[in-house]
Amino acid sequence: MAIISVGLLAYGLVNRADAQTGTTIVGPDGSNPHPVHLNLPPVQPLSALAQLGKQLFFDASLSGSGQQSCASCHSPKYAYNPPNKLTVQLGGADLKSFGYRPPPSLAYLYRQQPFSIGPDTVPDDVVVNLNAVAATAASGGPRAQKSAGTTHPTAMVPQGGLFWDGRADSLQRQAFFPALDPAEMANVSVAGIASKLTGADYRQQFTQLFGPAIINDPNRLVSEAMFAIVRYQIEDPSFHDPQKGNCAACHLSTVSADGLPPLFTDTQYEALGVPRNPHLPGNQNAEHFDLGLCGPIRKDLASQKQYCGMFLTPTLRNADRRSVFFHNGAYTTLKQVMDFYNLRSVQPEKIYPRDATGKIALYNDIPTSLHGNVDIKDAPFDHKVGDKPAMSNLDIQDIIAFVHTLDDGYTLTPKPVVANSTEGAR
Ligand code: HEC
Ligand code: HEC
Repeated sequence: MAIISVGLLAYGLVNRADAQTGTTIVGPDGSNPHPVHLNLPPVQPLSALAQLGKQLFFDASLSGSGQQSCASCHSPKYAYNPPNKLTVQLGGADLKSFGYRPPPSLAYLYRQQPFSIGPDTVPDDVVVNLNAVAATAASGGPRAQKSAGTTHPTAMVPQGGLFWDGRADSLQRQAFFPALDPAEMANVSVAGIASKLTGADYRQQFTQLFGPAIINDPNRLVSEAMFAIVRYQIEDPSFHDPQKGNCAACHLSTVSADGLPPLFTDTQYEALGVPRNPHLPGNQNAEHFDLGLCGPIRKDLASQKQYCGMFLTPTLRNADRRSVFFHNGAYTTLKQVMDFYNLRSVQPEKIYPRDATGKIALYNDIPTSLHGNVDIKDAPFDHKVGDKPAMSNLDIQDIIAFVHTLDDGYTLTPKPVVANSTEGAR
């Protein structure tokens, strides 16, 4: 008997092997060999250099007009986009010169690769003969073509770099351009910027960070100032990665290894602690629990208690055509699903009923002894009771609108979205 169940267990594990790698999805010790972790930059206090950079970023006295800072065209209130509707921003010593292009956002630039031209299928460091590329293109050679779900012929694709034309290849070198551009911050020379820096309140921070000699070395002074601005853009969390619904950690939005468009699932199992559905016929029996991986329908993992309560992360494609959601159909609208993600950890009284003694019946579709399996680590479930919910009502409406675009038959027919109600958008 023992041998048979071991055999069955082994069969179950091998059967659920990852088709790409041939590795098992569930390790013999119950560990998950492919845990989903977004590798986000750690949120920690700004370094001294980044704090200096923050002052420089907002310092209008560093411009020829004395009235324009980096933030004038890249406003934090607008996610580092321009704060107005002008096609191009005004700048220059008199603030009357027109810029050439609309300023891009400064968010996420720490991830931008240096500029390169090459086949998009090989690493960036392959040296490309641009004359040969031009000749091939002139004779009607392959052009890059992007279409979801299809592979395209090898083509020489320009990629990476900063600015709309990629002409700056590091954030540090990039920062010199607006500082010296006559239509932007309009400084006349590096020495001119240096003398503004030495006259400013933060002069002492430069000598503390780089030594007293920096004051007499204009090139190095300005170069370090630009580097400080870079550190600010890289370190300050307002430039990247706000953790909200964190949907893509489990409902992956990346192209899969086979090159096909994303299915919005990592195909992994999670115990989200979805509330018990009193309308499910089997739930008339208070002792009945559907625990997914560990049974009662599936039997081979019954002894693997660490998986109890875990269910497959489903695709979000066509999810908006469903009338009931989650493995137990606990919810009937996408708005309710979103409220579950948003409130489970911070306002559990809105998600779970109260028991006979008036206590909130947390994770009431999983026996108490197995509550340790419920995910409390991944955002938005890492929040604590009383914390601000991870998503605003507007975020929720937007995500629901996005889920509608994942409908294979998506049309632009507007669908009603009702905020702040339990009978909300579908
Ligand atoms: C007068 C408006 C203005 C000011 C002031 C300004 N910028 Fe810009 N910024 C622009 C414009 C316009 C572009 C795009 C220019 C182009 O593509 O040729 C740009 C592009 C950038 C980019 C490249 C973004 C990308 O996606 O490639 C960075 C980084 C940047 N600016 C940082 C700064 C910093 C740092 C400062 C302060 C030292 C600054 N900017 C000041 C208008 C401005
Ligand atoms: C920690 C992983 C994880 C995160 C983060 C996550 N999901 Fe899920 N999602 C799951 C799992 C697992 C299920 C199935 C749970 C169950 O039925 O018990 C699920 C189910 C769903 C369903 C129900 C689909 C159906 O067919 O019934 C929807 C819709 C959904 N998720 C959308 C989202 C959205 C939108 C977000 C971001 C706000 C999100 N999920 C964040 C893992 C996750």
